[in-house]
Amino acid sequence: TKPLRIALAGLGTVGAGVIRLLDTNGALIARRAGRPIEIVAVSARDRSKDRGVDIGRFAWVDDTTALAHADVDVVVELVGGSDGPALTLARATLGAGKSFVTANKAMLAHHGLELARAAEAANVALKFEAAVAGGVPVIKGLREGAAANEIERVYGILNGTCNFILSKMEAEGRDFADVLAEAQALGFAESDPSFDIDGVDAAHKVSLLASLAFGTQPAFADVAASGIRDVLAADIAEAASLGYRVRLIGLAESGPNGLFQRVHPHLVPVSHPLAHVTGATNAVVAEGNFVGRLLFQGAGAGDGPTASAVVADLIDIARGEFGPAFAMPADALLAQGPADAGDR
Ligand code: NDP
Ligand code: HSE
Repeated sequence: TKPLRIALAGLGTVGAGVIRLLDTNGALIARRAGRPIEIVAVSARDRSKDRGVDIGRFAWVDDTTALAHADVDVVVELVGGSDGPALTLARATLGAGKSFVTANKAMLAHHGLELARAAEAANVALKFEAAVAGGVPVIKGLREGAAANEIERVYGILNGTCNFILSKMEAEGRDFADVLAEAQALGFAESDPSFDIDGVDAAHKVSLLASLAFGTQPAFADVAASGIRDVLAADIAEAASLGYRVRLIGLAESGPNGLFQRVHPHLVPVSHPLAHVTGATNAVVAEGNFVGRLLFQGAGAGDGPTASAVVADLIDIARGEFGPAFAMPADALLAQGPADAGDR
């Protein structure tokens, strides 16, 4: 059978994780996908960097954006950044009639609708399971599992770096900066970690979850966000003495005045399941009118879990499962607009 041919842009934490995963589980993935998934070309900034995986067997492409024109079926973008080479590559790939898989929530929060339209026009797939909650299948969960429901609200812990920092500060009374350095060393943080600690990354994710839950356009500009930069170990200790834990929560809620989207540190009572989510774990709660309360929980960052979500998207494409990128076709999202109460 004909393999699914992949070009991989970005060989950092997640990119190297994808190579390792395909090396380790390739045979079972080929059985499940119905055909092998083969990386044929790769690109990053520095060809000579030791990445802990053998990249000598793949064609190296100097200009990352030129991967759009490689002889492949799918381009996987794991570079990052809302604009720049990631966006150039996305536009060129979809424009060339090839499917595109990405973990880049920043790009999708800003350009998701445009890219979804380009994918539909070319009759190819745009997939981004890894963009929200790392290895947790919350995109598929909302787009497919909960598709029959009217959703009241969706909320949760969406940034692994912040949750790692808050739970270490809580358990060990450590300083913020010290724990941030550890989260960076573990590969959880964004290349600019202020995106994590100022709530921007969680806001990107809220805009995507809101779009999936409410059938609206992703509207990052409408998400009010603040982060954990000003949270002190003393605040966490004080909250604990009152029976609360501090968590950075992202929320999207549909109400009479439209969609309400925000990211803020919250005091979560210890009786609530989100108070017990520690480390780089993410947890997303969605409340649907027939399914009831859904809880999606698992590793929200890191090489293995994120690679797992990227390769799940590749398996879908290998099986010919395309479907709309968001809750419904892009023209229908466009008709809903960004800020009303969606298709409710
Ligand atoms: P890294 O910083 O570890 O890797 C980024 C890769 O992109 C590197 O290989 C780098 O090249 C390459 N790169 C950076 N800039 C350029 C450029 N201008 N041209 C070509 N290549 C470039 O990032 P991550 O792997 O952590 O993240 C990748 C994406 O996945 C991001 O969108 C991130 O938000 C998302 N993500 C990350 C998660 C995580 O846990 N890390 C979880 C979920 C999503 P070189 O190595 O040569 O420097
Ligand atoms: N920097 C992100 C986080 C990566 O810490 O959650 C996963 O999207």
